[in-house]
Amino acid sequence: GSVVTVGELAEAIGVSAVEVIKSLIRRGIMASINQQIDYETAAAVAAEFGVETEERVPEVIQQASAAIEHQLREGAGDPEAQPRPPVVTIMGHVDHGKTKLLDAIRETNVAEGEAGGITQHIGAYQVEVQGRKITFLDTPGHEAFTAMRARGAQVTDIAVLVVAADDGVMPQTKEAISHAKAANVPIIVAINKIDLPSANPMRVKQQLAEVGVVPEEFGGDVPVVEISAKQRLGIEDLLEMILLVADLMELKANPNRPAIGVIIEAKVDQTRGPVATALIQSGTLQLRDVVVVGGTWGRIRAMFDDRGRRVRRAGPSTPVEILGLLEVPEAGDLLQVVDDEKTARDLAEERARQRRAETFSEMRVVKLDELHAGI
Ligand code: GTP
Ligand code: MG
Repeated sequence: GSVVTVGELAEAIGVSAVEVIKSLIRRGIMASINQQIDYETAAAVAAEFGVETEERVPEVIQQASAAIEHQLREGAGDPEAQPRPPVVTIMGHVDHGKTKLLDAIRETNVAEGEAGGITQHIGAYQVEVQGRKITFLDTPGHEAFTAMRARGAQVTDIAVLVVAADDGVMPQTKEAISHAKAANVPIIVAINKIDLPSANPMRVKQQLAEVGVVPEEFGGDVPVVEISAKQRLGIEDLLEMILLVADLMELKANPNRPAIGVIIEAKVDQTRGPVATALIQSGTLQLRDVVVVGGTWGRIRAMFDDRGRRVRRAGPSTPVEILGLLEVPEAGDLLQVVDDEKTARDLAEERARQRRAETFSEMRVVKLDELHAGI
């Protein structure tokens, strides 16, 4: 939404700033004249003084949002769209083997690939199977769904649900299922730890069917692969299944346009400054591109792939580490290439302004809640 300061609001509705501040206090908000408040709060104050309001989103934001929506929605319909690798998230109950599986996939692949290739941790990686790429998000599955979806970004194409063969369907298994279903993301089940004597894959399949995840074997539409992440059994089968499901989805994006992506993780590096891993969703990110990322911006100074190699460009579904941002963005922030530095600065400033106002409103909600709890 849009943002206004207390002073601006007072002027707009034709009352003194003191009146507005008093009205805010009655709502539990202690604000100064320069405090930015969000649209909803401003509208409520205005209504109190008999003034009706209409939200006007700043043009720079309007245009940027429209461009992103257009590009992402157009997706497969774009005549220049080309097949892109699937983006996969691994989910499941605690200790069922998510990390072990990610490691097994990565190591199996690295062993096949270049000698001594050490994968550096950038929050996502790509593997190649039968000459085709698959992108894995290395973040805990629920984060990939919640933090990112909260910002309106859907990054995952396919969810691999890991269920331990000895433990079966557990609370977080069910949680993962509802996340995937809410996001309309197809599930592939990996029944893990089949090496254990206590493993009972058939029981797991029955439990899954009971919670609405019906295995193909039982006439449902959910592929199930039995694996042992520890002994590296069934890993290839799982990867092939991912490609099969991806084929049915006909995932496409146009690489021949300015990039749009999502931040997977970000941090400050002592020597390199803000470093962020972006997953490119559409278009191609190139060296020297000017990007807006959440409330910050920058010019791409250097890019590295998931093996730490310098790259000059990154296309759809590619995770890439970027240098050149002025500040550290947040996971889930959208990355968007814009025409010039002025647009970038305006857009980033406006977004940062909105965020500050939103954070302020959230703080106030917490304080009010505490107040109620204390009574
Ligand atoms: P959280 O990140 O804590 O939610 O756990 P996780 O799902 O990432 O599980 P993790 O990969 O850490 O594995 C949990 C434990 O199960 C570890 O001790 C693993 O060694 C073990 N484990 C994982 N996969 C297998 C498997 O295929 N067979 C056996 N026997 N043990 C496994
Ligand atoms: Mg783990």
